[in-house]
Amino acid sequence: MTLAASVAGAAYIVAALLFILSLAGLSKHETSRRGVAYGIVGMAIALVSTVWLTAAQAWGDPAALVGLTLLVVAVLVGGAIGLWRARVVEMTGMPELIALLHSFVGLAAVLVGWNGALYDTGLTGTLADIHHAEVFIGVFIGGVTFIGSIVAFLKLSARISSKPLMLPGKNALNIGALVAFVALTVWYVVTPELWLLIAVTLLALALGWHLVASIGGGDMPVVVSMLNSYSGWAAAAAGFLLNNDLLIVTGALVGSSGAYLSYIMCKAMNRSFLSVIAGGFGIEAPSGDDADYGEHREIDAESVADMLTGASTVVITPGYGMAVAQAQHGVANLVQRLRERGVDVKFGIHPVAGRLPGHMNVLLAEAKVPYDIVLEMDEINDDLSQTDVVLVIGANDTVNPSAAEDPGSPIAGMPVLRVWEAGNVIVFKRSMASGYAGVQNPLFFRDNAQMLFGDAKERVEDILKAL
Ligand code: TAP
Repeated sequence: MTLAASVAGAAYIVAALLFILSLAGLSKHETSRRGVAYGIVGMAIALVSTVWLTAAQAWGDPAALVGLTLLVVAVLVGGAIGLWRARVVEMTGMPELIALLHSFVGLAAVLVGWNGALYDTGLTGTLADIHHAEVFIGVFIGGVTFIGSIVAFLKLSARISSKPLMLPGKNALNIGALVAFVALTVWYVVTPELWLLIAVTLLALALGWHLVASIGGGDMPVVVSMLNSYSGWAAAAAGFLLNNDLLIVTGALVGSSGAYLSYIMCKAMNRSFLSVIAGGFGIEAPSGDDADYGEHREIDAESVADMLTGASTVVITPGYGMAVAQAQHGVANLVQRLRERGVDVKFGIHPVAGRLPGHMNVLLAEAKVPYDIVLEMDEINDDLSQTDVVLVIGANDTVNPSAAEDPGSPIAGMPVLRVWEAGNVIVFKRSMASGYAGVQNPLFFRDNAQMLFGDAKERVEDILKAL
């Protein structure tokens, strides 16, 4: 091994350790900033050492210099586009951006796999067999991740309907595709012919599309974290082909942490992990909802201000609408004012509120809401029956009583914030429209619930003025 390779190997170990510290940091509010910093430093070390290693190996070799130039240009162009997108993306656009980024990892794994197949490695015997299996597995995982992430991007950005695709015999299709993949892999290892690689690429694209298209709107959070996991395994597969330890370690970290996150989200939504990763396996098509829930009542901002000043306990349950309205700063001011008046205010955060894991926590942290009053759903649910007023700010599916009370509902069984048990519930939204899962919410028609219509940010400002 050359000196350059040894130094790069050492740098890769440091980068891998920083990625592990980053994941550990990201698991808690208090340490999340440090976690991000570790990740940035780790990635910078990984990038610089990869470029340096390539430069050291290319020195004096005109053919390799072309590769080095391409690498530097790609890093500069990719970095510039990444910087621009990260600066302009709205918080509400993050999930679809993340889905799109996962698709790049998948595409990269497909290209690396194809490159590995077309480039003559000179391997023979068992080593050649292993190489062929790596190529096939990398192309397959990459293809599923690539197209699955594109479908997730299209669904999350509302460019296509978020309704689940219900092809007849969809479970058999998914299982059939997996069996075909195993059979093709064995065939390719025995006789590595190009048409088999084309076949597995097409199979992976079809399966990726079908897996994600079959999943309904309410289960999309699990899909995003699941694709995150797939993108990690795709990167690890590319790492084996490129003989790059850091890519293998990083891919395995992303793959396993994404799988664990999917598991946590499934538990939070009371969904079977296996059924979601198998593409909505066993999920029935949602039934239409024509039920008549009666009349809803409206309230104005002044009356809400009066109600809040008379309350001793208030719980705020934010949702996607708070992110759309960017109401978090107004909400933070409201909390501060109420606390100054001696009102006990807490937040109740549903694990899938918003459109990405931790969405609400990020917004509230940005608005400098103290961490100790931000509670998870399980920590606050039992207190809701003793709460005077609940402010539901732009949340809908996460406070829907049908999930707990109507076994025929498409979101049946998903644990929700039991806000309807409180004395009064004020729902901030612009209309009677349903939430992301497309299910009507009977909460809005309950006797203790009143609707405060309009943009959440403007309505919060109105309450602040009235206070
Ligand atoms: P949703 O059920 O999506 O409802 C959000 C509500 O906010 C809508 O009913 C909308 O009603 C209202 N809204 C939108 N813009 C608003 C504005 N400017 N001012 C006031 N209200 C506004 O929200 P949720 O309770 O947070 O639930 C999240 C849903 O997204 C779940 O179904 C979850 O499964 C899904 N999901 C979550 C994730 C993750 S990882 N968290 C990822 C993908 C999908 P109006 O239009 O009437 O205003």
